[in-house]
Formats: sequence, C-alpha cells, structure tokens
Amino acid sequence: MTQFFTRKEFAEAADFIRSHTQHEPTIGLILGTGLNPLAEEMRAAEVIPYSEIPHFPVATVEGHVGRLVVGELEGQEVLIMQGRAHHYEGYSPQHIALPIRVMQLLGIGILMVTNAAGGLNPAFKAGDLMLITDHINLIGMAGLNPLRGPNDPELGPRFVDMSQAYDLKLREMALRVAQGLGFTLHQGVYVCLAGPSFETPADLKFLRLIGADAVGMSTVPEVTVARHAGMRVLGISGISNVAVIEPTGESKAVHEEVLEAGKILVPKLTALLKGVISLLASEGGSLDK
Ligand code: HPA
Repeated sequence: MTQFFTRKEFAEAADFIRSHTQHEPTIGLILGTGLNPLAEEMRAAEVIPYSEIPHFPVATVEGHVGRLVVGELEGQEVLIMQGRAHHYEGYSPQHIALPIRVMQLLGIGILMVTNAAGGLNPAFKAGDLMLITDHINLIGMAGLNPLRGPNDPELGPRFVDMSQAYDLKLREMALRVAQGLGFTLHQGVYVCLAGPSFETPADLKFLRLIGADAVGMSTVPEVTVARHAGMRVLGISGISNVAVIEPTGESKAVHEEVLEAGKILVPKLTALLKGVISLLASEGGSLDK
C-alpha cells in the first residue's frame, strides 16, 4: 500500500535538522552517484546521517554517502545531500522527494540537483557536463508521480506548471560560469527511467527518438516536488558513460564506469556549482524567489 506523507512527517524531519544546526540554508544541493566530494568544501559544517532523520529515505547504493552536510559554501548557507534514494531501491516517488519537502519547510528557495547520466546525444563524451534545460517525466507518465495522492494546498497547487521547470536565470548563470572556467557545458533534455536495469539498444533508440539527450534514474521526482514547492531549480547531469546502440559483444560494468567518471566530473562540477553560488551571492536579491 502506498504511504502518503503529510506535513506532520515533513515537519518532524525539518525540526530534527533545525535542532542539529545553527545554519539557516537558502540553497539545497543534491549530489548524485559518485559526485559526493563537493561537500568536503563546506565550512563550519554540521553532518547529519539520513538514518537519524525521521522519515528520511536512506540511500543504499554504492557511491551514495547518505548524509546531510549543512554549512557555508562561497559565503552562502547551503544544505547538501550527499547521496539520494531511488525508486529502484524500493522507495515510492513521494518518499524519494521527501527531502525536498523538508527543504521547503526549512525555507530553502533554490534547489541545485546533480546526477550521473548516460549520454544519448552523439556529441556527448564520458566526463562531460550537461545543463538540464528540460526533462521527460517518463516514469510520471506511467503513474509514478510524487504528487499523486492528497494535495496539501499549503505546500503547493494541485496542478503544477512544469513549462519552465529549470530556471532560466540560473541556467544563464551556469553557462556564464562554465565559459569563464573554460569548459563546455552542453545543454539538453534529461529522461528518468525507473531502473535498476540499464537500457537495451532498442530502449536507447526510443529515448533518442523522443528527444532525450541524457538518461538516468533520478532527479525528476525531486524537481517535480521542488516546482510544486515554488523553488527555483538548477539541474546538472554528469555524463558518466555514453549510450551504446550497436553492442560490440563485450558486456560492460556500467555502474563501475559511472563511479570512475565521477572522478573526472567532480572537479568541473565543483567549480561550476561554487561559481553559480558565488554569482548568486554577488547579485544579491537573486536568492529571493
Ligand atoms: N542509464 C541509466 N542511468 C544511468 C546511466 C545510464 O547509462 N549512467 C548513469 N546513470
């Protein structure tokens, strides 16, 4: 049976976090598979394991540390999720997105979300970064939407506008920062599948045909709830492997590839996100919705 969480559970988790940190973060950051090290750059950080936070989904996959780090990054108060839960681990879409509700109650107005993804666009190489311009909610179309169930109007509207899910100003900032750092930031559409099996060649052809540039198993449930909550969203995919539509006969260990590519991606991703956060700070009022 599906469990629908309510404001009571969200508030219990938010109160627990408030009681464990002095910080009042305005930016939430989710670090995807193999992308954890950015959290080590945080100053005056408090660390809270997910397993201690009431109702929080606990990540079980290698490459996901499973803790909150709350502290200062580039002079801003930031809450970092080191790792996330996925649908394939057995969590409902609403449970996966529970941390976003908690961020909402903590007063966070900007969500920066990262993931490891497979490149579908033939121009992408492993180790590249892609700015998410839009997503295809394939699992949502199949019924796995985190907003299914009773709607709490205090948290957001019943029907959510998803026409500009990824904030244009944040995207422009990310492009400016990447240009300044001297690396290519591709732009494209992310598609979320339920996983955990990777795609067949026929799946990959289909995903390309419907207009996806990168494929992964996360992000869309969290972004859907963030938009319901009125947050501004920035999404970055780290391309950890590229789609192989014509198999060579050799079977690959894609999860190992994903973890390996994380090492190349992390320095670029870290510089990019830090750059956007410091730009937000220098542009003052941009932290407001
Ligand atoms: N497919 C789906 N999810 C992924 C992939 C992939 O190739 N790489 C990283 N996450």
